[in-house]
Amino acid sequence: IDIYFNGLQGVLPDLPMAYPELERRAEAALAPAVWSYVAGGAGDEATQRANVAAFARWGVIPRMMVGAKERDLSVELFGHKLANPLMLAPVGVLGICAQDGHGDLAAARASRAMGVPMIASTLSVDPLEQVAAELGDTPGFFQLYTPTDRELAESLVRRAEKAGFKGIVVTLDTWITGWRPRDLSTGNFPQLRGHCLANYFTDPVFRSRLAQPPEENPGAAILHWAGVFGNPLTWDDLPWLRGLTELPLILKGLMHPEDVRRARDAGVDGIYCSNHGGRQANGGLAALEMLPEVVEAADGTPVIFDSGVRSGADVVKALALGASAVGLGRPYAYGLALGGEKGVTHVLRSILAEADLIMAVDGYPTLASLTRDAVRRIG
Ligand code: FNR
Repeated sequence: IDIYFNGLQGVLPDLPMAYPELERRAEAALAPAVWSYVAGGAGDEATQRANVAAFARWGVIPRMMVGAKERDLSVELFGHKLANPLMLAPVGVLGICAQDGHGDLAAARASRAMGVPMIASTLSVDPLEQVAAELGDTPGFFQLYTPTDRELAESLVRRAEKAGFKGIVVTLDTWITGWRPRDLSTGNFPQLRGHCLANYFTDPVFRSRLAQPPEENPGAAILHWAGVFGNPLTWDDLPWLRGLTELPLILKGLMHPEDVRRARDAGVDGIYCSNHGGRQANGGLAALEMLPEVVEAADGTPVIFDSGVRSGADVVKALALGASAVGLGRPYAYGLALGGEKGVTHVLRSILAEADLIMAVDGYPTLASLTRDAVRRIG
């Protein structure tokens, strides 16, 4: 309504109101190498496109005369009452999308302002303690890329606990970087520039492994990081991971129902259904395709979903298909590129407003009312 009233006076929104424009303007705003890194994916990006296209195969069935005048999008997750079911998915090297290079802090401030929990990536430009400090009362989660050095992994988790993060999200699909032609053809691998390694460079265990501190010899520190970055975890490692923390443990990248059952049986607190936005392996299914089966296999364990979410309608569909919360990835990075904290807030507010309006018009006033029957598969 504010936007329409402003329009009456000839004042138009300065940030994009639709995803295609958001994408277009972010591309124009970002340096080409940064754009390739954020927008690009694995192979010919078929999986990435499939993630987005999959949402068009589902439609919401409207219910009338429900009187959905008031809506409640709040959700209870891992013991926290959240104002809405959206989350900021972890985006490594996010900082470089912001003009001042401190995009992690800007996103954290937007998270605080909107009550949308941020899952802070291990690969952040600013150390996790600083990111946590910006989150205020909004619960934050720390995403762990599990290094091969177990002591280092433990140190990162302890720091996340101490900084006040409310859960640990372990990403399983990225112990090695996927085949990303856009980055390969520009020789661009932002991690190797070292500016997203603050969490490592400030880590006492990481520092203890180096002959010289990273400030004195960044090249050697980056090389060491590359050597310990990712551990191809197996199910045998899960008891160790589980034992690392008493915080809720969420496994990210689970797509196969059998893996979901195994994770659930091993006592994880959350399942994160995602194919990393098609950045890791091409030739896969849209993540949304697997969501109903993942939810079924999770059997009551909360399921966070991401990959391809671009609008409020997508959020509603993912929730109807059983997601407990929905992660936003690229769109908020683009918002950050266009307007820093204000840009992220704008993207979150727009997506939530659209989801809320759909729930109003279609007669689903609460998340509980948004069940599997609310959507039908079209093709
Ligand atoms: C990611 N993603 C990601 N995931 C993760 O667990 N740790 C990370 O550091 C990153 N880094 C990262 C960087 C960039 C530039 C992007 C776009 C994504 C994956 C992310 O959490 C999420 O799964 C995807 O972004 C979902 O896909 P869409 O919806 O953004 O296409």
